[in-house]
Amino acid sequence: MDKKLALVTGGVGGIGTAVCKRLAADGMFVVANYAIPGSEEKWRREMAAAGLNGTSSALAFGDVTDFDAMGEMVRRIEAEHGPVAVLVNCAGITRDAVFRKMTPEQWRSVLSTNLDSVFNVTRHVIDGMVERGWGRIINISSVNAVRGQFGQTNYASAKAGLLGFTKSLAQEVVRKGITVNAVSPGYVQTDMVMAIREDVRRKIVAEIPAGRLAMPEEVADAVGFLASDKASYITGTNLSVNGGLHMYA
Ligand code: CAA
Repeated sequence: MDKKLALVTGGVGGIGTAVCKRLAADGMFVVANYAIPGSEEKWRREMAAAGLNGTSSALAFGDVTDFDAMGEMVRRIEAEHGPVAVLVNCAGITRDAVFRKMTPEQWRSVLSTNLDSVFNVTRHVIDGMVERGWGRIINISSVNAVRGQFGQTNYASAKAGLLGFTKSLAQEVVRKGITVNAVSPGYVQTDMVMAIREDVRRKIVAEIPAGRLAMPEEVADAVGFLASDKASYITGTNLSVNGGLHMYA
């Protein structure tokens, strides 16, 4: 295949779908991973409506918390469509609760879906990228990784862990033609954010200097840039897309 192949974990979610559309529109063949049967239907409709199904994209079922299942998924994708050139680690969930009410299950499920997943998938694509001398790994973190958030000790821990992973792997593979970066969205108009209690959400939006939630496409454009040849000397960075909610040098 002439097109570069991009694998997007959690590819059928709010940000994931926008990332798939961006990368496919940029000329890549996109494979969207999903883990909940039925959750791919909306993605299928949206990709078809954008004229990006068939020769531009495919779906791959698999649980990102399962290392062996991810190995099988990557082998299946590579046999059918070709090598993974771009990996966007986008799979993520929330199980918000104040720490004093948080259960071990809420802690574990968020850490394994949002952080272990990054090891589970990246480990299976990194050798191929090194052999071919080109790769892009983009990890979707969060403003709350660096800012912290009431009710998100689990989520903020996982997303902060992802930043440490990004900077460490970036150093290991930069000489092999591979860049590893993070994109940290603020509050984006997705089902995840719309699930926050309305009164709490209203207070959060009131704190955002931009005065509104981000659109998923605004996050996807940042991912598209980091995945492109134009970003070849950018590695180990964390690109904030948060409407000014948190600024740091
Ligand atoms: N700072 C300080 N105190 C706060 C507070 C805050 N931000 N929010 C609530 N409190 C206080 C309340 O005033 C209340 O105090 P009293 O007991 O004295 O009245 C106490 O903490 C309990 O608050 P709640 O009633 O809200 O507690 P709850 O158990 O009903 O709900 C919660 C807790 C579910 C975590 C809720 O606060 C919440 O949904 N918070 C938002 C979490 C959030 O931002 N999640 C982001 C999801 S989207 C995402 O994660 C994407 C991304 O990357 C950004």
